[in-house]
Amino acid sequence: MADPKPINFTRGVPATESFPIAELSDAADAALREHGPAMLQYGPSPGFLPLREWLARSQQVGIDSVLTANGSLQLIEFLCLDMIGPGDVVFTESPTYDRTITLLRRHGATIVGIPLEADGPDIPALERALSKHTPKLLYVIPDFQNPAGATCSRAKRDRIVELARAHGFLIVEDAPYRPLRYRGDEEPTLRELAPERTLHLSSFTKLIGPGVRTGFVVGPPPIVARLAKVAEDTYISPGYFAQGVTYEWCRRGLLPPQLDRLKALYAPRLDACLASIDHHMPDVLATRPEGGFFVSLTLPKGVETTAVRREAAARGLNLADGLAFFPGGGGERFLRLPFCALTPEQIDEGVVRLAASVGAAR
Ligand SMILES: Cc1ncc(COP(=O)(O)O)c(C=O)c1O
Repeated sequence: MADPKPINFTRGVPATESFPIAELSDAADAALREHGPAMLQYGPSPGFLPLREWLARSQQVGIDSVLTANGSLQLIEFLCLDMIGPGDVVFTESPTYDRTITLLRRHGATIVGIPLEADGPDIPALERALSKHTPKLLYVIPDFQNPAGATCSRAKRDRIVELARAHGFLIVEDAPYRPLRYRGDEEPTLRELAPERTLHLSSFTKLIGPGVRTGFVVGPPPIVARLAKVAEDTYISPGYFAQGVTYEWCRRGLLPPQLDRLKALYAPRLDACLASIDHHMPDVLATRPEGGFFVSLTLPKGVETTAVRREAAARGLNLADGLAFFPGGGGERFLRLPFCALTPEQIDEGVVRLAASVGAAR
């Protein structure tokens, strides 16, 4: 076989061509003129005040419900520093975002994975787990989940909230993909359903670019205040320079047109991914998300991702190991396909190589 150009179905990164570089350059210029001293000085740990005010308005909450940080992952670390010690039980979906698993483990948490179905966590499994443990946190990614691509149904959202109230645990709703819905209707956020016991995390990583390192949490003010103290003890204040630029970009009303551009760029990539899977791999089970960054596959019985990865590497296709997404084991036949940073042609070629790799690994 000729040496094919590698195709990476590995990391869930945004497409570089989506970055609004010229807009950010103008916003940076204006922001520095208007807010230069504040952007270049230390400031309060919850973040650059105009950005927090903008976020509070857009989320329809008071400003003491909003904390920013250098990316939303860092907010998970702050939450662990505040709440999680060795042996504390945390429930997550299984599979879930692997970096959250790493942070929870670093703090000694006992992670109980609740199997994830196409419409959200397996509720009877959650109820069984609750009969054995009361977790400190339930960490969920209800919209276009990383890594599976699943979206939690309204009925399951309602039940999760009922269970959280009955058992007294906090819900951590990690929702960076929620604004990227390409079709279909939105469900309410868990925070809308239970504002008193939900921390809603989001980020500009998927909307502007990871380089602005600006994530935020919306939650009950006493918890937000505790996290702000952890933040202050960690870095004094977050990256005000990037937050000033992000604020000015938002103030100019540039988020809605950027969302339109992202949807126009990514929806055909999702469609290409699903169509290629249907065409070339009719016997795999694929999630069918209506937005976000990921489609996931369950390979046919008897075919393991580890063997497929080896075959794929020989065909110029790089795949991520699925095992790291499963806190309690499993996932031998799981494969995540992040489609946003590839063109429809690359996606189709990637799925052709994947189908050949699965065939060879049988
Ligand atoms: C579910 C989830 N949470 C958090 C993050 C990290 O986001 P940030 O760049 O805001 O730290 C990601 C990034 O891929 C993610 O998929």
